[in-house]
Amino acid sequence: MRTGVYTWFVLLCGIVQSSRSQTTHGNILVSLGPGQQLKGLNTTAASGQRVYSFLGIPYALPPTGDRRLKPPEPEPDWTGVKETVTKSAICPQNNEGAEDCLYLNVFTPDVSGSLPVFVWFHGGSYTIGSAFKDGDGATMAPQGVVTVTINYRLGPLGFMSTGDAAMPGNYGMLDQVLSLKWVQKYIRSFGGDPSQVTIGGGSAGSHSVSLMITSLLAKGLFHRGIMESGSALALTALERPGTKVKLRDATLRSASRMGCTQSVSSEVLQCVQKVGIHHFMNASKDFTPYPRVETTFGFLPDEPLTLLKNGNYNKVDTLHGTNSGEWNQEINDDHDNGVTEQEFRTTIGSLLGIFINGDLITRIFSEAYTSNVTDPFVLRTKLVQAVSDIKYGGATIVETNKYLTTPNTHTKHFLYEFDYRISGTTTPAWRGVAHGGERRFVFYPDVRYSFAKPDDKALGQEVQTLWANFIKHGDPTPSGLTVKLESGTSVVRWSQFTMDNPQLLKIDTPSKMDTHRRLFLIPLFERILEIMKSTEKSPIVG
Ligand SMILES: *[C@@H]1O[C@H](CO)[C@@H](O)[C@H](O)[C@H]1NC(C)=O
Ligand SMILES: *[C@@H]1O[C@H](CO)[C@@H](O)[C@H](O)[C@H]1NC(C)=O
Ligand SMILES: *[C@@H]1O[C@H](CO)[C@@H](O)[C@H](O)[C@H]1NC(C)=O
Repeated sequence: MRTGVYTWFVLLCGIVQSSRSQTTHGNILVSLGPGQQLKGLNTTAASGQRVYSFLGIPYALPPTGDRRLKPPEPEPDWTGVKETVTKSAICPQNNEGAEDCLYLNVFTPDVSGSLPVFVWFHGGSYTIGSAFKDGDGATMAPQGVVTVTINYRLGPLGFMSTGDAAMPGNYGMLDQVLSLKWVQKYIRSFGGDPSQVTIGGGSAGSHSVSLMITSLLAKGLFHRGIMESGSALALTALERPGTKVKLRDATLRSASRMGCTQSVSSEVLQCVQKVGIHHFMNASKDFTPYPRVETTFGFLPDEPLTLLKNGNYNKVDTLHGTNSGEWNQEINDDHDNGVTEQEFRTTIGSLLGIFINGDLITRIFSEAYTSNVTDPFVLRTKLVQAVSDIKYGGATIVETNKYLTTPNTHTKHFLYEFDYRISGTTTPAWRGVAHGGERRFVFYPDVRYSFAKPDDKALGQEVQTLWANFIKHGDPTPSGLTVKLESGTSVVRWSQFTMDNPQLLKIDTPSKMDTHRRLFLIPLFERILEIMKSTEKSPIVG
């Protein structure tokens, strides 16, 4: 319930600004409920438009003490005025951050509007990153969108698990779910419409969006999903039977370094909850976090592929894609003479070495991409595609295929491949666009990035407009609404992907529709997900 909006015309020279593109003119108060107010910042965006920013809003009690490694608990009602004008701490990672980190930020162009809402989950392999890492949420406001960026628990604090009911894991994912509940309850106070919520994310944030789609705990909390390079079906999106290192083993190893060597899981939990945060993080330095299948919280009662095949997921429209050269840093060609078939296999093999059946999966992928190819430059092109597909492309197309083959759903799905290399890119063209290369365009114009050439700026406007249209209309280029750039050029119509007409948008200058050329990935990647269900090493025959 909103009870009023007031402004304080106070001079605020000492306030920390959220980005250099903004000037602080004063404060703004919004009411979350009777006697509950937030004091935020009334600022001007680079475009000259007004943006109201609320930074560091608590959405859960601090997950400390006996709340460590437990589901987040909502903030109880409070009274008074909370100052939300400075960024909160980031969640613990790499010797920085604080455990009291469950805060979110809201950026709105109009606190009395009823605008579509965009909730962003940051990337960083569930290990690093924060609400501010991928982009400045304020930059979407001029599009008429209320943006929410969140912190969620990372690393061991977000994902430790003994594999049983004492420590089921998934705390970081439950944080995301709770943040979406907060949005449902409070976003009206910021001019947002809780019935028009799009969740989006990149990398692990994109895995997260896909996991929200497959988790019935998030049912009804959002209406659309944007996934940039990630999927619940990606091989590293969650702990799978075929992953060599098990969460339980890694958890018990870290716990024993903390002196918690009890044999009963609940006693291990009580013990590690008492360990000081620095010691806790230091003892878990080699912990690799993953969400996991579990029924205690019921975040993910089954493998995502099974949930998708059975229609047990949240049926929403999606915008989903990958960059042309995901993870291309894994590819070596210092002499610029292309790659041999052996180099192809070695590169893929090292990427897949963390899986029990890495050898078998390497063979399957290598054969699919290299048969009958001998030219080292063609092999190099195929390797760029194969690495991209292993990381995200295969999972993306299987996920979309499952949405489209669920009976009686009428959702729309828009696919893209991001091909635009920002000016100043120093890597050779054959590498394509690296992981994360699209995000600066979504959050255009984030002052941390340089958009030196007119093409960079035009692409920023284009990508942000396409994304905003999807957030507002469920369609990046709604019919009757030509997307025109400042330069006067219009953007091609982005048709939805269907199995009959498998089209994707290749984002570049200019962007164009193209047929998806690697549909063979649908059966191939499903076969690999089958192999990943096994904890046994399969013999390589033939
Ligand atoms: C924000 O500040 C501007 C400039 O001082 C002012 O015109 C505007 O009314 C303020 N917004 C609100 C909601 O008070
Ligand atoms: C971190 O842990 C290692 C053992 O894993 C230990 O040798 C070292 O002293 C610890 N450092 C701190 C600052 O606790
Ligand atoms: C490779 O070449 C052989 C012989 O020309 C052909 O039968 C086979 O279909 C080709 N395989 C692929 C994947 O193109």
